Amino acid sequence: MSVIGAGFYGSMTALHLAEYDIFEKVVLTDVVEGKPEGIALDINQSRAIEGFETKLVGQTTTPDGGGYQAIAGSAIVIITAGLPRKPGMSRMDLLETNAKIVRGVAENVKKYAPEAVVIVVSNPLDEMTALAQIATGFPHSRVMGQAGMLDTARFTYFVAEATQTPITDVKTLTLGSHGDTMVPVPSRSRVAGKPLSDVLPQAEVDAIVERTRNGGAEIVGLLKTGSAYFAPSVAAARMAKAVATDSGEVMPVCAWVDGEFGISGVYLGVEAELGAGGIRKVVQTTLTEAELSALEVAAEAVRAKQADVKGM
Ligand code: LAC
Repeated sequence: MSVIGAGFYGSMTALHLAEYDIFEKVVLTDVVEGKPEGIALDINQSRAIEGFETKLVGQTTTPDGGGYQAIAGSAIVIITAGLPRKPGMSRMDLLETNAKIVRGVAENVKKYAPEAVVIVVSNPLDEMTALAQIATGFPHSRVMGQAGMLDTARFTYFVAEATQTPITDVKTLTLGSHGDTMVPVPSRSRVAGKPLSDVLPQAEVDAIVERTRNGGAEIVGLLKTGSAYFAPSVAAARMAKAVATDSGEVMPVCAWVDGEFGISGVYLGVEAELGAGGIRKVVQTTLTEAELSALEVAAEAVRAKQADVKGM
């Protein structure tokens, strides 16, 4: 199990993975010299307190691929490398910078962990996931992105707050892109078993949908430097756990869509069943007509951008 990038997102992901105590080791790499080693040492020292056996291995990597031997044979690699947004930036503003970084990482993953399932979290998410698949040449089922778990968690949190309901009694779903064409799915949302439309007026649902769509930017605006990492990291870690344990859990993720919903040939936020080989299958959720057209709009928006990354 390896995590590329030891920023807040990568470090927190590595910590969650280690605390699950299901891996022999978690390798954490970064290009900042000493940073992954330092974080690994710190997390390893927490093992005595939390009582988990998973060992963290920190490894600095160099621009020419030095150090990547550390990820050799990893069954799962999470790519967090890349810059986060600054206030006022859209995720798409990161496209060119992060494309270079993610391509370089993906080429090393292909070289050192050719059998890995790859989970991408770098932004813009849908495009970086597509690029990682292109650069590794791995089957689409072995490359996925994390966004839907996070966007759904945000939607769920806002609904739980608005309805004063325990968060475990709220179920929501978001599909589509991790960006302007995100598709929150109110028709699949339940509050203590009741349809969302029974417990909140439409205007309030609309406001929550809008806030969910801007969920990342809201946090970027508050933090001033960097972007969210607590909810994002636990989302990525849960996906890796589902793969590692071959759990068959259905999760909203960025996956290759091949005919489902009448959409083909694009990485898009959909529900999928996760197992040892990555994506076992995309699950075709029942959607209202409006939600389905929103998903089609999202697919076309990301398709155009995903075509651009081929040359990056
Ligand atoms: C967010 C970033 C991680 O949505 O994409 O917070």
